[in-house]
Amino acid sequence: MSLKEQINTSKIPQHVAIIMDGNGRWAKSQGMMRAFGHENGTKSVKTVIETSVKLGIGYLTLYAFSTENWKRPKLEVNALMRLLVKSLRSELPLFHSKKVRLNIIGDINSLPDKAKRELESAIEETKDYNEMVLTLALSYGAREELVNTFQEIADKVKNNLISPHLITEQVIKEHLYTKSMPDVDLLIRTSGEQRISNFLLWQIAYAELFFSPVLWPDFTAEHLYEAILNYQQRERRFGKTSEQLT
Ligand code: FPP
Repeated sequence: MSLKEQINTSKIPQHVAIIMDGNGRWAKSQGMMRAFGHENGTKSVKTVIETSVKLGIGYLTLYAFSTENWKRPKLEVNALMRLLVKSLRSELPLFHSKKVRLNIIGDINSLPDKAKRELESAIEETKDYNEMVLTLALSYGAREELVNTFQEIADKVKNNLISPHLITEQVIKEHLYTKSMPDVDLLIRTSGEQRISNFLLWQIAYAELFFSPVLWPDFTAEHLYEAILNYQQRERRFGKTSEQLT
């Protein structure tokens, strides 16, 4: 049986998040510049989007650019921003045909104007689609998201809109960038690194973690199937005992 055929279609993770890592090492292994790795990484992005829609994943969140990535050489940052614009343009027909809604988390205002405009227009064009929500984390950092969340809540306390003892987990969730999304069920990181790197710290509290040794530009549909099969073999207890689950 193929990997795809082994997948239990009634146990598909609702929210899959991916730390797409290894573009630079992939390029280096080919004797090429890092930007070449990112360019090839966009092919894996497309494959993963198409495969996720086919599998019925409701939310796919991709870590495309972190708040820390601004510290990379200007040449690489510029290449990434150009790639983002180019990919958005080329993938828009896919979003329309598969009814994929585009969403962004992160500090969109820190992006170059052209990228910002392109993103805003793609978000507007796809806003009524419901087949899958594709979220790109751009200029995103989970600590920055939490700081922003706490500032918003503190403002409400100051203006007597909420009292401190009514600040619950639900209230915090409602102020995150991901307010309209469920928690992450499966977090995948490629390239063999086993770190979270400031990604969705609140939202992965009960996520299953899957670390793939594959470098992102080599990541295929088969690798996604493998991650999902692995996820389906886990017992998610959410703090309960095995016996309580049955
Ligand atoms: C990590 O690899 C990857 C990134 C920082 C950028 C990810 C971007 C893409 C996959 C392409 C553009 C994305 C979209 C959504 C169009 P790395 O550079 O840290 O690799 P390394 O650890 O091997 O150096």
